[in-house]
Amino acid sequence: MTLSDAFRPASDIRINPSILAADFVNMQADLARIGTADFAHVDVMDNHFVPNLTFGLQMVERVQATSPVPLDVHLMIDDPARWAPGYAELGAASVTFHLEAATEPVALARALRAIGARAGVAVKPGTPVESLFDVLDEFDQILVMTVEPGFGGQSFMPETMPKLALLSAEARRRGSAVWLQVDGGISESTIAQAAEAGADTFVAGSAVFGAHDPDAAIAALRSTAQQHAH
Ligand code: DX5
Ligand code: ZN
Repeated sequence: MTLSDAFRPASDIRINPSILAADFVNMQADLARIGTADFAHVDVMDNHFVPNLTFGLQMVERVQATSPVPLDVHLMIDDPARWAPGYAELGAASVTFHLEAATEPVALARALRAIGARAGVAVKPGTPVESLFDVLDEFDQILVMTVEPGFGGQSFMPETMPKLALLSAEARRRGSAVWLQVDGGISESTIAQAAEAGADTFVAGSAVFGAHDPDAAIAALRSTAQQHAH
């Protein structure tokens, strides 16, 4: 660890609670419980790309109007080129679509940036990341799924860590500012290994909303990630 690493600012770590684990009929109250988060992570599922259904533009527009923190939208949907721009237009700070579902990922990322959102691309646990190396600068965030997308409360898959380390090394080599996000099974007992592998942006659903004090859970996750970050 170098001196500059030791003084890495806390803002280099982002903790994004997933509202999939919130109470859907008390969303306003649950959003108010995560005021110390960096972003609210919003899981949009279409029952085609993943075998589960959540909510769409209309609901996310209300969440956007109500959330104390910016939105980090994670689209687990087919045909993202059709739908993703709408989430950027309603004001989501970050919109992430799946590489497996996109026909022209770079063109879609450019469209999202043109609207003013951060552009993210996500990969499922079995999807290689090498095809992203030459286009890293086209994205603001790469999401390495640490569970199979579709449901909250699943167990973290440590076998995804080598892929994250590869991306992290490649981003450093290229001097890229891309954020590396992990999503699925992130808790006090798994966040350290994800930070060590190079993640800087952490989604946590059950670990935050399942806690008695969500802001305390966010602080604990942030502190552990900080201690294990590069
Ligand atoms: C899973 C979703 C995740 C989920 C994480 O498909 O993308 O964001 O909400 O939930 P936990 O943290 O409970 O694994
Ligand atoms: Zn997610």
